[in-house]
Amino acid sequence: MSITLTAAHVCGVVLLREDGAALLQHRDDIPGIADPGLWVFPGGHREADETPEDAARREFVEETRYRCGDLKPLTSIQGADWGYGQDFQLEFFWSRFDGVQSYECLEGQAVRFVTRVEAEQLPRCPYLTTVWDQALARASAPGLSRVPYTNLPAQISELQPALRAAFDRVIASGQYIMGPRLAEFEERFAALCQTDFAIGVADGTSALQLVWQAYGLGPGDEVITAPNSFVATASSIAMSGAKPVFADVGADLNLDPEAVAAAITPRTKGIVPVHLAGRPARMDEIRRIAEKHNLFVLEDAAQAVGARLHGKPAGSWGNAAAFSLHPLKNLFAYGDGGAIATSSPSLKDTLRQARNHGLRNREQCDYWSGNNRLDELQAALLLVNLGAFEQWTERRRALAERYHQLLSDVVEVPLQGPGEYCVYQTYVIQADHRDELQNHLQAHGVEALIHYRTPLHLQPAAANLGYRAGDFPVAERAAQRILSLPLFPAMTHAQQDRVGELIHQFYQRRC
Ligand SMILES: Cc1ncc(COP(=O)(O)O)c(C=O)c1O
Repeated sequence: MSITLTAAHVCGVVLLREDGAALLQHRDDIPGIADPGLWVFPGGHREADETPEDAARREFVEETRYRCGDLKPLTSIQGADWGYGQDFQLEFFWSRFDGVQSYECLEGQAVRFVTRVEAEQLPRCPYLTTVWDQALARASAPGLSRVPYTNLPAQISELQPALRAAFDRVIASGQYIMGPRLAEFEERFAALCQTDFAIGVADGTSALQLVWQAYGLGPGDEVITAPNSFVATASSIAMSGAKPVFADVGADLNLDPEAVAAAITPRTKGIVPVHLAGRPARMDEIRRIAEKHNLFVLEDAAQAVGARLHGKPAGSWGNAAAFSLHPLKNLFAYGDGGAIATSSPSLKDTLRQARNHGLRNREQCDYWSGNNRLDELQAALLLVNLGAFEQWTERRRALAERYHQLLSDVVEVPLQGPGEYCVYQTYVIQADHRDELQNHLQAHGVEALIHYRTPLHLQPAAANLGYRAGDFPVAERAAQRILSLPLFPAMTHAQQDRVGELIHQFYQRRC
């Protein structure tokens, strides 16, 4: 790409890494700069219809393939100061360089971090040093170090070429529904769950609904589940015409097997344990209860791809398991997506037919059913994400471990229980003065969420079920104390330290 300096503005970005190093790009193709040792990042021209900020962002993305976060104006240097004519001006913006672990640029571009000392040794460095000083001062100013709840663009930055290639292949193939990528995804997902089969579906809610449809759940039936879940856990039961029956959870915030046993009636047909926040429910005990009473177990594993109990994956314990592949889940599609895992051949056949209108083949519809398929594009992109999944999970677990250490003296942290392998799809603390803590974090730019503020039995939609406040004391108390902190594979230690520091500050001020 050629760079022209005849435009009125040249745009640059200074990106700061958490250790204070700045990302600069070697440009020896700038006309007039004889010395190839001069570093400018990223340099470049401004199109007639672009703002300087847009130009800086475009140059950055084009040249590094990384996503550039919010740019903030930093400084403007006159061309004359840099030894050029008066006819142009160099505008710098700054941004934190969050979330990208590797700074080796793609496609062999000469991009690297330099230390401040190196920068000072560069020719004409006084200008660069000025820019740098200003950027450091801005970046360390209070209120500017935002910690988002998640950062998907940073998380997938290194997968971009593979994602684009996968996307292009599907587009070129002309086969967009029920093709080879779906089949391959299903095979790999079943292997991950250690089940014989997986069925790709439109989303996690469809996964739950289809299993109940295939089972034949209906009016007069009851299914026991946890009151502290996402609405789809209960709505999928209710929409079949059956009654969701809630049982309280234990200290792990997952179904308490004793409470499940106590909730069984002659109408009970099934149990839906939820592996909340990526922590496996007590499946060994729940399965024993189910076997004793001949109940169907549908794991709601929407939040728990890869979680394990005693080495056995979530999804392999029940008769079937429903997964969500929503973008906020730990394995995600680029839009809605879902999957069902099962080792039952007959259930698999029914589910594959049920997700596709009940069609046996193009001509014959055996029963009325919906359209709940996972399309080829999503399957192809999911296959790319699967390649990074193990690394993402390790990173989530390492960050969770670090949070435990940072926070266990001030709040209740989600430690793993014996035999558990948690994937920390969500990192949920339990805290006194939770709402004030959330406001404090929010005021300082840290995004923390609540999953879920209102238990299912107290939702307006559940009014006809006859529950009242106080029916499930553990779940209800937790609903007032839980707070999901930011935890995502691209999170930096500096971001995590910031969250820890703010939480400590909040409780110190209350003392
Ligand atoms: C526990 C649980 N069950 C079911 C679902 C529904 O999944 P989806 O949003 O993909 O329909 C979710 C998604 O948030 C969930 O967290």
